[in-house]
Amino acid sequence: MDRAELESRARQILLTNLRRGVADWNGKEFSFVVPSLTGYPFQWFWDSCFHAIALTHLDPEQAKAELTTLLSGAQPDGFIPHIIFWEMEKQPDFLSRNIVGMTSPYFSATIQPPIVAYAVERVYRATGDEQFKDAALPVLVAYYRWLRRNRDPDEDGLIAIIQPEEAGTDCSPKYDEALGLEDLSNQGFIAALRQVYAAYEPLRGDDRRILDADIFHFEDVLVNSIYAFGMRSLARLLGDAPEADEFGREADRTRDALIEKCWNEKAGAFFDLQGKAEKPVEMVTISSLMPLILHDLPRHIVERLVEDWVKKPEHFWLPYPLPSVPASNPRFMPGNPRGFIWRGPTWVNTNWFLSHSLKGHGYPELAETIVTKTHEAVEKSGFREYYHPYTAEGLGARDFGWTTLILDM
Ligand code: GLC
Repeated sequence: MDRAELESRARQILLTNLRRGVADWNGKEFSFVVPSLTGYPFQWFWDSCFHAIALTHLDPEQAKAELTTLLSGAQPDGFIPHIIFWEMEKQPDFLSRNIVGMTSPYFSATIQPPIVAYAVERVYRATGDEQFKDAALPVLVAYYRWLRRNRDPDEDGLIAIIQPEEAGTDCSPKYDEALGLEDLSNQGFIAALRQVYAAYEPLRGDDRRILDADIFHFEDVLVNSIYAFGMRSLARLLGDAPEADEFGREADRTRDALIEKCWNEKAGAFFDLQGKAEKPVEMVTISSLMPLILHDLPRHIVERLVEDWVKKPEHFWLPYPLPSVPASNPRFMPGNPRGFIWRGPTWVNTNWFLSHSLKGHGYPELAETIVTKTHEAVEKSGFREYYHPYTAEGLGARDFGWTTLILDM
């Protein structure tokens, strides 16, 4: 598929998944792309950021609308939800198959990886629209401060998530133990999640108390890498404004904490910290590689991640890299285990992050292979949610929004 064809197919998906209207419940206009019309018919936080980045290549005006819609979901205290149910009539069907933590019927009470400032930066660079940037800045400042205030009770620079979906890597095996997961299936996962939700019932909406209850409490490496990455963008967007220093400093603090507390020299990988006791969860997954998105990660760490993990055929270097879980993990499931996601297949968003990072760290061939293989998977199987890492068989949702990130690779 050449560039023109790829663009035309991506455009078709983004247009088909585009939702425009006025919400009955708040009278606000919305204009955004759903991840998938069938499986995910609402606005998801990090999906929307990826859609906006892809749209900078096709329709910069729509890229702005996507993010403006997402930012319009910000609450007075700065919080931005992980799902916004713009079209409420679709909610009953969705909630019959999924569970979502809520304090309002209209949006989730949970977060997703905080990449939004980077998406705003990209859209601003693509359009040069000062008004767009100026409108976004106060919302972003309030959001990243909200995260620090509500999700970093021990003030170590690492924010914590309260349930696995907040990391966007929902059923990753790294959460199995914390969830007490025995039935290794999506139903088992949902059942385990229901127990967490039940325990949260009286606490929902008060994240500091939820974290204090220490039920599901992860200082997650993927989330914190993206948190630092996002704050770097915010500092750049702020330019000469006084808050720029604050976010530059906070990004450094998060990077330093990742290195000091999550890096495991013996394993050559980063591990999440579980609970208030910060017990390292010693399991390598795609998230263990994510600090590579930080351009100033110390060289010896970059080399260990690349040499010991990325490049190894027994771990991440499969025919269609990079799998969400390395092949060496006993819980690796390369196929499609019925919605039991993030346990082996290759996803385009993590490939997008890591191909750019590897290139930046001086590994252009590895980056190129990831891009070529991702392109091949899309060509072979269409814009799917994720792919079999040995065969590129398309899995999960069809016409999946963020797979259009291939345009930005
Ligand atoms: C799944 C993914 C999550 C994504 C959502 C919508 O829940 O795990 O990362 O945001 O689908 O695509």
